[in-house]
Amino acid sequence: MAHSPSPTRRRRSPRGPSAQCALDADLRLDHLADVARLESHRKEIHRPLYHVHKWWANRLGSVFRALVLAGNSPAGTDLRTEFYQPRSFPGRIVLDPFMGSGTTIGEALKLGCQAVGADINPIATFQVEHALRDHDETRLRSAIDRLEAIARREILPLYRSSFGGTPAQVQYAFWVEELPCPSCGANSRLFDRWIFAADAYPGRRPQAQAVCPACSEIVAVDQRRQTATCTACSHRFAPGSGTVTRSRFVCEVCGRTARILDVLSTLGGPPRHQMYALMLRLPDGRRVYKRPDSADLDCYARAGRSLARSRLPLPTARIPRGHNTDQTRRHNYTHWRQLFNHRQLLALGRLLRGILGEPDAAIRESLLLVFSGALEFNNMFCSFKCDICSRTTSCAHHGRHWKRTRGDRAAAVVPS
Ligand SMILES: C[S@@+](CC[C@H](N)C(=O)[O-])C[C@H]1O[C@@H](n2cnc3c(N)ncnc32)[C@H](O)[C@@H]1O
Ligand SMILES: [Zn+2]
Ligand SMILES: [Zn+2]
Repeated sequence: MAHSPSPTRRRRSPRGPSAQCALDADLRLDHLADVARLESHRKEIHRPLYHVHKWWANRLGSVFRALVLAGNSPAGTDLRTEFYQPRSFPGRIVLDPFMGSGTTIGEALKLGCQAVGADINPIATFQVEHALRDHDETRLRSAIDRLEAIARREILPLYRSSFGGTPAQVQYAFWVEELPCPSCGANSRLFDRWIFAADAYPGRRPQAQAVCPACSEIVAVDQRRQTATCTACSHRFAPGSGTVTRSRFVCEVCGRTARILDVLSTLGGPPRHQMYALMLRLPDGRRVYKRPDSADLDCYARAGRSLARSRLPLPTARIPRGHNTDQTRRHNYTHWRQLFNHRQLLALGRLLRGILGEPDAAIRESLLLVFSGALEFNNMFCSFKCDICSRTTSCAHHGRHWKRTRGDRAAAVVPS
């Protein structure tokens, strides 16, 4: 920061009488805890500027507003009051040579400073450049309207369903990995537990959704209880357990166990997946769960046939070796394309084709950035967070915990 003391002075007496700005004095930011807590909740919604794309170390805008403010204010400034004042520091230049997702740069600009940023990672520079870009709002809105029309016309129909005769929209499709049993050859589903949608606070909302191990019907269960009874076939089961225990699975047909990685090593590619449940949105706004019926399976199969006929821009690159990709490769995923199911590839490919048709290069690149960010929540490695009807991603955990139940969501690319 142009205003900060020289490094030599700072080293000699960082908090002493030579302090020039509030940053050099005792910095009390505890009053920010409440606003920081609010800001860190559902980051993709509450601070969209620095969250247009996945980033691995997002900082809080409120904290960096306070730091930039303190760096530009004399020692003794009441930062608690100043924080909420409109302030401007024309002529001050903030340099962040490691800008990451651009929190410092963005907050500096909001405070009327000039800002200069750099990063070794091209995703960082691309996202900051586009997040902070001055687009012509009318042109940007019309580009988004055009994409929304494409989504309504070409993507929404891929996710149609029905519930008791009422038309419904698929919001989320639940998938589970399947492996062939080495003893009897039958395919078995790899469920960590039969419950697949449960509120994170069972005391508050005990009702959860589970798949019946005997008849595959979707049943509502009480997640606080050890056992549940299927309303369709009266089978009693333990909803908190499944077919997988640590590295092994038990065959659903013959009951013998096998090591998952051993079976995977015999396959020529990634394991198959079975769509076992849908979360639907009804016209009155209610959300309901159901087992996919033949029309749902047909709808999905049609998407696969359309994909095979299409000439969409789809990824062809291999997944390179690397710290964060080796686990995926060990599960036989060799190409990025395999991280998506056919319907996702069709929907995302149609959306991408629409974006690539945008004539304004700057708007097209910004839309590509948002599209790339949306991939985080629209792939077969997303998991489901029931309490906020949302989805998280295994990327968030850098792949440490391998999920075997997966999701496919329409709503992230289609406004509902
Ligand atoms: C914790 S982030 C910085 C956060 C950022 N200052 C902010 O306000 O949000 C650290 C960044 O340093 C970048 N980085 C690491 N080594 C670098 C180097 N040699 N040159 C430039 N950037 C580098 C990383 O790519 C990463 O984005
Ligand atoms: Zn049953
Ligand atoms: Zn078996």
